Amino acid sequence: ADSKIVIPVVVNLLYRTAAENISDSQIQTQIDVLNKDFTASNPDFKTTPSEFATVAGNVGITFELVKTNRKATTKTSWGTKDAMKKTKQGGLDPTSPATNLNLWVCTIGGGILGYAQFPGGSSATDGVVIDSKYFGLSGNANYPYNLGRTATHEIGHWMNLRHIWGDTSCGNDLVTDTPVAKTANFGVPTYPHVSLCLPTHNEMTMNYMDYTDDRGMFMFTTGQKSRMLALFVSGGVRAGF
Ligand code: ARG
Ligand code: ZN
Ligand code: CA
Repeated sequence: ADSKIVIPVVVNLLYRTAAENISDSQIQTQIDVLNKDFTASNPDFKTTPSEFATVAGNVGITFELVKTNRKATTKTSWGTKDAMKKTKQGGLDPTSPATNLNLWVCTIGGGILGYAQFPGGSSATDGVVIDSKYFGLSGNANYPYNLGRTATHEIGHWMNLRHIWGDTSCGNDLVTDTPVAKTANFGVPTYPHVSLCLPTHNEMTMNYMDYTDDRGMFMFTTGQKSRMLALFVSGGVRAGF
């Protein structure tokens, strides 16, 4: 698709406590964050260091909430084995995953903020899971994961992006304009973060596909954009969108 890609989003919300039953307006804050981050209209995008500004990209994809499914449960945590995606296991089956991005919002547990399925997997489990504490603009209570960037990162995976360090020491993320990184970076690294991978260069710690705090990540590159957009062309894995 060369025309505008608008991703219809279905939120599947599983709650036990009132706090987990987040409001429609809270859900909308997450959609708003995605619309900013994927169009480079997030205010912090402009703080990208100049050495990376030339490759920083506007992905040009937007998101539209089509439906929220809410279901009360007795589960205290759902783990990472996709039970939340299955009505038979007490969760909620996805809605038309070939044409909707399904998000599951629930308590995951184990310190996991979110997880995603890469393109090409089973349609029955296609989508992204985000812990309800880190969904949308969640205020001081969930600092430093309170700016909705867990969903930005996980949807990056759903659109075929790897971690910037390639999940191995000085690994390859299959994107040429992201510099090699030694490993995941946490917190908010001070720029420049000189890489321990050679030849000497600075790491792009502010990329959404690193592991920094939410306020430390604010850009995708044009190389990552190309990798994402390749899914949506005719014959691509997500051509249905
Ligand atoms: N899958 C990662 C985790 O659960 C997500 C990291 C997202 N990072 C963030 N700053 N929100 O740890
Ligand atoms: Zn990740
Ligand atoms: Ca790279």
